[in-house]
Amino acid sequence: MDMRKLLCFGSLNIDYTYTVPHFVTPGETLPAEGMQVFSGGKGLNQSVALARAGLDVSLAGAIGEDGRFLLEQLRAAGVDTRHVSVLSQVRTGHAIIQNDPSGDNCILVYGGANHCTTREQADRALADFSPGDMLVVQNEINDLDYILRAADAAGLAIAMTPAPMTDAVRRLPLDCVDYLFLNEIEGGQLLNGEIDPEEEPIRAARELRRRYGPGAVILTLGEQGAVYADGREECRQAAIPAQAVDTTGAGDTFMGYFLAGCFEEMSVREAMVYASQAAAIAITRHGASPAIPTRDEVRAAMAQ
Ligand code: RIB
Repeated sequence: MDMRKLLCFGSLNIDYTYTVPHFVTPGETLPAEGMQVFSGGKGLNQSVALARAGLDVSLAGAIGEDGRFLLEQLRAAGVDTRHVSVLSQVRTGHAIIQNDPSGDNCILVYGGANHCTTREQADRALADFSPGDMLVVQNEINDLDYILRAADAAGLAIAMTPAPMTDAVRRLPLDCVDYLFLNEIEGGQLLNGEIDPEEEPIRAARELRRRYGPGAVILTLGEQGAVYADGREECRQAAIPAQAVDTTGAGDTFMGYFLAGCFEEMSVREAMVYASQAAAIAITRHGASPAIPTRDEVRAAMAQ
């Protein structure tokens, strides 16, 4: 791939992460064992992953005044924040995250300012990018249809994580997406059925391509690894074993490092290993964006 700059247009969240003995069940009141506040949001996490992987990335999105500290953390990670709007009278998006003893999570997201981006903002941000650059989006902001079509018309390559999954995703122009990243739950929702990670997830990736038309589908399967299918090449990558304490943001880390591998002209197989190694490090640490490793950390782990 010959691409120069990335525009990540996505969410910035304040993550409230609660350590719980198990996920709360309907009707239950569950005392949390601990609580921490992290920077998160799929847009913020992915732009941090791309920057820590050594890429030139700019984040566009919106926060309220209460989210200004997120900008400091983004800048410290090397992300350009000039296209993040700070809005008055609206709260920054946030997530309530339960983190169980196995490191697993479940997440409730409140959109807040993430749903207040404007078309003018999208036009302004896209004007800074040229054909061959890449747009990276998720499904936590408003007006995705407009952003996708505008980026496609401007000749940008597009990577998308359609999470959290909603009915609206089916109506998006997914055929203009070059890299579609989903986990098995989201893939199953798009296929109207479950994907069993034990049973040929490659078939599901192929079927997602056939029905929705993206260039490549990358299906992440948690402990079962990930699969890739682009119509010519297919491969499966096992997860790299690690002691998970918090899996929040592992998919965002995987995505950032997979794209970085492609930028560095790794083969698909090499990029899958690179991404898996980065995700394996991220899950051994707490929080979403604070857990994302640097390029040097990932390369050092791979050299071992
Ligand atoms: O992908 C993980 C992220 O999902 C969290 O940081 C949370 O904010 C939600 O957006």
